[in-house]
Amino acid sequence: MPAKTSKRQPARELLFGNLWEYDPAPETASPQLQSRYQLFIDGKFTAPKTKKYFPSISPRNEETLAEIALAGAADVDAAYAAAAKAFPAWSKLPGAERGKYLYRIARLLQDRAREFAVAETLDGGKPIKESRDFDVPMAAAHFFYHAGWADKLNSVTPGKTLAPLGVVGQIIPWNFPLLMLAWKLAPALACGNTLVLKPAETTSITCMKFATLLLEAGLPPGVVNFVTGAGETGAAVVNHPTAKKIAFTGSTAVGKSIQHALAGTDKKLTLELGGKAANIVFEDAAIDQAVEGIINGIFFNQGHVCCAGSRLLVQESIADRVLAKIKIRLRSLRVGDPLDKNTDIGAINSQKQLEKIRELVDAGVNEGAELYQPACSIPSKGFYYPPSIFSGVTLSQHIAREEIFGPVLSILTFRTPEEAIEKANNTAFGLSAGVWTDKGSLILKMSTELKAGVVWANTYNKFDPTSPFGGFKESGFGREGGKQGLLEYAQLI
Ligand code: NAI
Ligand code: MG
Repeated sequence: MPAKTSKRQPARELLFGNLWEYDPAPETASPQLQSRYQLFIDGKFTAPKTKKYFPSISPRNEETLAEIALAGAADVDAAYAAAAKAFPAWSKLPGAERGKYLYRIARLLQDRAREFAVAETLDGGKPIKESRDFDVPMAAAHFFYHAGWADKLNSVTPGKTLAPLGVVGQIIPWNFPLLMLAWKLAPALACGNTLVLKPAETTSITCMKFATLLLEAGLPPGVVNFVTGAGETGAAVVNHPTAKKIAFTGSTAVGKSIQHALAGTDKKLTLELGGKAANIVFEDAAIDQAVEGIINGIFFNQGHVCCAGSRLLVQESIADRVLAKIKIRLRSLRVGDPLDKNTDIGAINSQKQLEKIRELVDAGVNEGAELYQPACSIPSKGFYYPPSIFSGVTLSQHIAREEIFGPVLSILTFRTPEEAIEKANNTAFGLSAGVWTDKGSLILKMSTELKAGVVWANTYNKFDPTSPFGGFKESGFGREGGKQGLLEYAQLI
């Protein structure tokens, strides 16, 4: 039989091994970067009063892309003053007129989609196919959708009209920089608020490029203001007395500190925080389809996704089969240069995040779970981590409880739907979940009993501006998207 084996080997290699090589296919559109980005206050690019700048590096190769202005308290103050000055005129503008600005912004973003996609990939490390096909089009879709609402605010809640809150402060994370900016800006502007937004310190570039697009759209000065910096700047945005509402997306730890800071004030607050979603596969599911959903659920955007399907719950009777199929699929994922159109898993956003992933994977190994990582070549410069799965995971282990926010899947098993529900809900989080089964009744049962803001059935990571997104428990509160998202930026009159 040895002859047979040696004949078969090349075919398998061809499918899953080293022979499956593509030529590099780097994206060539120019990201139009500047060497230095200022603050965007009152419709003007303004040097920070701190006179300080910090580098934004590319996690792809650790090269500095640009210098970003560091906003201090006085700069945040100026941004709020500009937003307060712009509020009366902007909020009194007929909704249809505000809608026109939003449509214009959406179209301008579409016009410059390639440029924005490359900038997003360079600054944040996500694969170009994701920034090109998901982040940028979805950001534009949010502006289109909310443009449509701007003149229909009196029909959101029949008998009542939505009125703006005033000036809002918004803080966004680094995993979907442009998309989170769109999630925050579009509903706030549609409702007639003005705003001060702070992007994350490792990914400020597309936000500052967006400012040029707002200028092109002719948005009145002060309606949108961008301040850049890290936690201290964020705290100044949160604590400013002019803010009528704070909208935050980021870690649960910072979310909790913001909730403490706002206790006793009359500021509204929405928090979109971490997650540890269960992706649940029943024995009657279409297995190959489920495997694709599992892979997409955890490896999309290197696993830097708050709703990532990071805990796979698979029914015991099919566990071995599913695990074998996941391992095969893992070997065909391409890790490397995010600017290459063939790349599936790009760069980890920062050195800090890479260290966190390593720490949690070490904890998983030390606590007795079984780690599998396919052999893959990783660029020598930049921050990269191979796709990883842990089997034999128990609920008490760190890798089953904490948000790893990296390309690491923890696999657990269950026997009955009741056990699956109990295990899925046994977490501090409650942002999302996935259910894979052929039975409609089981989907209904699971989606009712899972404590998660979004439950996907026979799919995963599907988003739409019309669909509200948000969490339970330590995943936060408030919704973004849909009518529910509009209500978070309005008062009813
Ligand atoms: P982070 O929560 O510190 O960063 C998110 C945003 O909050 C950034 O813009 C940051 O500058 C700002 N920020 C930081 N401290 C602040 C403060 N005291 N007041 C106001 N704003 C503040 O998250 P970090 O440290 O970058 O990531 C740590 C972990 O958090 C990740 O490993 C991941 O598990 C989780 N995370 C979850 C996100 C989600 O979408 N659910 C997004 C980002 C991080
Ligand atoms: Mg960067």
